[in-house]
Amino acid sequence: MSKTKVLVTGASGLVGSRFLELAQVFDFVAPDLPEFDLADAEAVRVLVEKENPDWIINFAAFTDVNAAEQQAGDENGPAWRINVTGVENLLKAFKSKNFLQISTDMVFSGDLDQPGPYDETQIPPDSNEKLTWYGWTKNRAEKIVKERNGSVLRIIYPVRTGHDKKPDYIRGALKKYADGKMYPLFMDQQICIAFIDEISETIQKIIETESNGTFHCSSDTTTPYELITYVIDQLGADPSVIKSASVLEFLKTQTNPNRYPVWGGLKTNITEEQLDLHHSTWQTIVEHLIGQGLSLPEATPQS
Ligand SMILES: NC(=O)c1ccc[n+]([C@@H]2O[C@H](COP(=O)([O-])OP(=O)(O)OC[C@H]3O[C@@H](n4cnc5c(N)ncnc54)[C@H](OP(=O)(O)O)[C@@H]3O)[C@@H](O)[C@H]2O)c1
Repeated sequence: MSKTKVLVTGASGLVGSRFLELAQVFDFVAPDLPEFDLADAEAVRVLVEKENPDWIINFAAFTDVNAAEQQAGDENGPAWRINVTGVENLLKAFKSKNFLQISTDMVFSGDLDQPGPYDETQIPPDSNEKLTWYGWTKNRAEKIVKERNGSVLRIIYPVRTGHDKKPDYIRGALKKYADGKMYPLFMDQQICIAFIDEISETIQKIIETESNGTFHCSSDTTTPYELITYVIDQLGADPSVIKSASVLEFLKTQTNPNRYPVWGGLKTNITEEQLDLHHSTWQTIVEHLIGQGLSLPEATPQS
């Protein structure tokens, strides 16, 4: 039997590159920039027609939340063109429902009007009033995907070992710690993490069972302070030098009060039941990462 042919966008990224490593059961087509630009409708049409895949998994995105914020309101800016127009381009070229959009908890506000952790049935807001520009572009992309009967997999702070090109939430913090530049960590912000190996397993299951709908991959909830001090302690270093801070106080000093969701997080019960799989707690994810070789990085020499 021939392998299922899966077209993966964003295959060089933090999450997509690990999916390619782990899900070897599929036959991958993994086009990348500069040859393949999602924002170029004609390039997308030509590639999809030529490859005629069984599935498309769209990892590609403009993922720099701060840079996206500088483009707020600009539907000609790169964040909108990649995250929204890019999805339209893919769906114009690919008529099948076997389309999986990788999305984020940031399609929700994370504030007390609609607090997380969110379950798969919760409907994201239809207004950008309380979202970052990045969150709004991903929110609009989800809407387009749903209208075309595609599927959505929301993830949150995806973590793995390796991938020097982009540090994840934990490795970014460990580097700051190693360099003696650790910022105070919020002890009143509700977050989750997602183990990228489990994201890969979830996607593989969605493809293999030809499932359709909204799915989540996440741990249970924690806070940045609890998570990072735990990791540092587990690595045998001293977490007592890390200061805590309040996200609610911090947001009062920001021009954009929506920059950090305070009550974020994703629930996974429906996904786990539907796909018959299990997502680890955040402590177990840390154990897995350390088992796979996560360690404190070398400090950057000071000049
Ligand atoms: N990282 C997170 O904290 C997080 C949290 C929740 C959800 N997500 C979602 O998860 C997905 C994967 O995120 P990630 O962290 O793996 O992202 P990433 O490391 O920033 O990778 C993004 C990928 O998209 C590609 N790309 C960017 N613009 C493109 C364009 N115009 N045409 C074609 N490809 C383009 C990039 O190619 P180049 O490398 O060549 O630029 C790269 O391969 C995204 O949809 C993101 O929104 C991420």
